[in-house]
Amino acid sequence: MNKRYVAYVPLLLSAFLLVLPGCGDDKTEYENAVGATPAKFAFTNQSGVEPGSTVTSNPITVSGITIGARISVTGGSYSIGTGLFTASADTVYNGQTVRVRHTASASSNATTTTKLTMGGVSATFTSTTGTTGAGGEGQTLYLTYCNSCHSGMPVKTKTIEAFQTAIDTNKGGMGTDALKALTTDQLASIVSYLTGGNTGTTPDAFTFTSPTDVALSTIVTSNSITVSGITAAVPISVTGGSYSIGTGAFTTTAGTVTNGQTVKVQHTSSASNSTNTVTTLTIGGVSATFTSTTVTAAGGPPPTVDAAALYTNLCAGCHKLGSADTSGFAPDLKALDASAVFPTPGVTTHNGTGPLTAAQISALTAYFLTVP
Ligand code: HEC
Ligand code: HEC
Repeated sequence: MNKRYVAYVPLLLSAFLLVLPGCGDDKTEYENAVGATPAKFAFTNQSGVEPGSTVTSNPITVSGITIGARISVTGGSYSIGTGLFTASADTVYNGQTVRVRHTASASSNATTTTKLTMGGVSATFTSTTGTTGAGGEGQTLYLTYCNSCHSGMPVKTKTIEAFQTAIDTNKGGMGTDALKALTTDQLASIVSYLTGGNTGTTPDAFTFTSPTDVALSTIVTSNSITVSGITAAVPISVTGGSYSIGTGAFTTTAGTVTNGQTVKVQHTSSASNSTNTVTTLTIGGVSATFTSTTVTAAGGPPPTVDAAALYTNLCAGCHKLGSADTSGFAPDLKALDASAVFPTPGVTTHNGTGPLTAAQISALTAYFLTVP
């Protein structure tokens, strides 16, 4: 062998040796992966289930693993064999059976999903609630023509005339050919679905009057609102404060409320001047905020408002704003005047948003001008 090549031999050998352990590791990892990855599995989805009921899936049998695999669940719980249902992750072995369970949505025609993962393989189980009362054609028409826009903004006035007027006046962009082509009979079906066909669990919108010039660190109580438009008890919950039903004690614990009951909310105002404290009350999926603004310090700076945060919290769910976001379905607020829809500070609301203070309205308008 030429002396020049001999010099490379140790180099080549060590390179070969370096590669060897690498090969061995790959093989072990590969074998583990085979033993711990179960065969694909699937649940049978259920439809027409009773709203709010507990729904349990069919059992599936774990196969294809030689060692234990990690089992975890989201959106529900699971049970191995005849064990208790749990939401905590654990280990599952070949041949065991697994079922998942969840509470169906409290609304009609709503889907609830549970996802089970075992050794990295996942499957979902869904239940969809049925319609009570009317339904049929009206439900199909509603889901086809209205739900895309109204799912987060329930239709308030459920009459044929209101639907027709909204379409004729191009309310929120409703003047499309598809909506104009709907016949009176079809609109009547939608009315029947929305009135008789739902479970009466979405209350009418409600609003609180927001006080300004509130003393620092003081307990502030809102006006009472009366729950209307529901035929069944619905969930009530609060963030950023507490609520009281009727003359009951104020609580932060979620509960239920029935039609005709009155509710008020309460919080402690900020310890700083010109600062908002916000309480959000949610009843059957419909929310309203109660905001107190503390007094301006004597001779102090004018109230400051974080307009960008306010926009994100209160408006961005429906609107879009120039380059700030693009997702909403309502008009682009770029360079618009917030007082156009909030003409009276502290009193008026706009699509369930507000009331806003004068400082908030002007800060939002100023913010809309700065966003390109
Ligand atoms: C392209 C989106 C879109 C579609 C599709 C749509 N709407 Fe609307 N609708 C809106 C918006 C936006 C408003 C304005 C909300 C407001 O001002 O409170 C609105 C307002 C209304 C109003 C008046 C306000 C109220 O809630 O009483 C009615 C009634 C209404 N829609 C019914 C319907 C019905 C029924 C359908 C299906 C046949 C439908 N809409 C389809 C977007 C839509
Ligand atoms: C629940 C949905 C929703 C929310 C939340 C909402 N808006 Fe609107 N807004 C709309 C719709 C829909 C329209 C169009 C009204 C129509 O034509 O009926 C509108 C119209 C407006 C307009 C008039 C636009 C124009 O072209 O003249 C302004 C201004 C406005 N909104 C400001 C706000 C501000 C500020 C906020 C937050 C503090 C807000 N909106 C929150 C749905 C919403």
